[in-house]
Amino acid sequence: MFATVLPQPVTTPFPDDLFSAVTKLKRELNAVILAHYYQDPDIQDIADYIGDSLGLSRQAAQTNADVIVFAGVHFMAETAKILNPDKLVLLPDLNAGCSLADTCPPAEFAAFKAARPDHLVISYINCSAQIKAMSDIICTSSNAVKIVSQIPAEQPLIFAPDRNLGRYVMQQTGRELVLWQGSCIVHETFSEKKIVQLQTHHPEAEVIAHPECEESVLRHANFIGSTTALLKYCLTSDSQSFIVATEPGIIHQMRKDAPHKQFIPAPALNNCNCNKCPYMRLNTLEKLYLAMKHKSPEIILPEAIRAAAFRPIQRMLDLS
Ligand code: 13P
Ligand code: SF4
Repeated sequence: MFATVLPQPVTTPFPDDLFSAVTKLKRELNAVILAHYYQDPDIQDIADYIGDSLGLSRQAAQTNADVIVFAGVHFMAETAKILNPDKLVLLPDLNAGCSLADTCPPAEFAAFKAARPDHLVISYINCSAQIKAMSDIICTSSNAVKIVSQIPAEQPLIFAPDRNLGRYVMQQTGRELVLWQGSCIVHETFSEKKIVQLQTHHPEAEVIAHPECEESVLRHANFIGSTTALLKYCLTSDSQSFIVATEPGIIHQMRKDAPHKQFIPAPALNNCNCNKCPYMRLNTLEKLYLAMKHKSPEIILPEAIRAAAFRPIQRMLDLS
């Protein structure tokens, strides 16, 4: 990860009304707050825009704000910086990484790619700037199938880093992909056994799942999609009850948008808290306030990597 951290006072007294204080700082900085659905409810409620990775990238690409406060994980804020080299991009907690991005170290991926010189590289946006810089096209969970379908059938493809999304894209497109064997610790925590048990208690509920889940879970899903797609599906489906197999932060918006419907979070196999993303949940409203007050921590990238990572992201935005 590339970034600088300026020291922040440990004992900063927080204003009584953090919402008003953040709103005031937003005005003073001409800032926009972009938040992912896996953030805590109070962060979602103060954000200017909440979305999935594709929606957040689009917002970052078109914002007129001087400062982007990214309430999400590092690769998301990094993508905003790649698209906006002249803007200040803040991430409330620099340790908000991503287990999936971490499964793809640049040196090993460079060797994997070098062994397949005739392959194009499609990388899921959940990866570092260095991996993006080695990629031909970036995709997200909402456009991966669409992007792969647009590439001529005879072109061999590497898909990295998520093996579960890659396998799902293979099934949907009928294409053979060479998969990097990465995965997300949160989505791999959902188990077929627990989903089936829940279904017996809620036979009327539809199962909705993120494509980062394993095949054994996806096989029980009535609908599979990105976080935004899952939210839209719940609003349009006639069903009144849903078992949600993704990070349960999204349920805050589901309940806000469809208060009369029932949303049941799919539990982790051991009934632990592991269905919550430990990286996303590092951000808090307090840290968001401090980041805006001190204009730190800031995302900083070497220009050569930023420029190389920009091209495949722009290709994605053009293709989707
Ligand atoms: P979405 O693009 O569907 O929001 O997914 C982001 C993510 O990190 C899923 O784990
Ligand atoms: Fe990464 Fe998984 Fe967290 Fe998404 S849920 S940010 S893929 S660790």
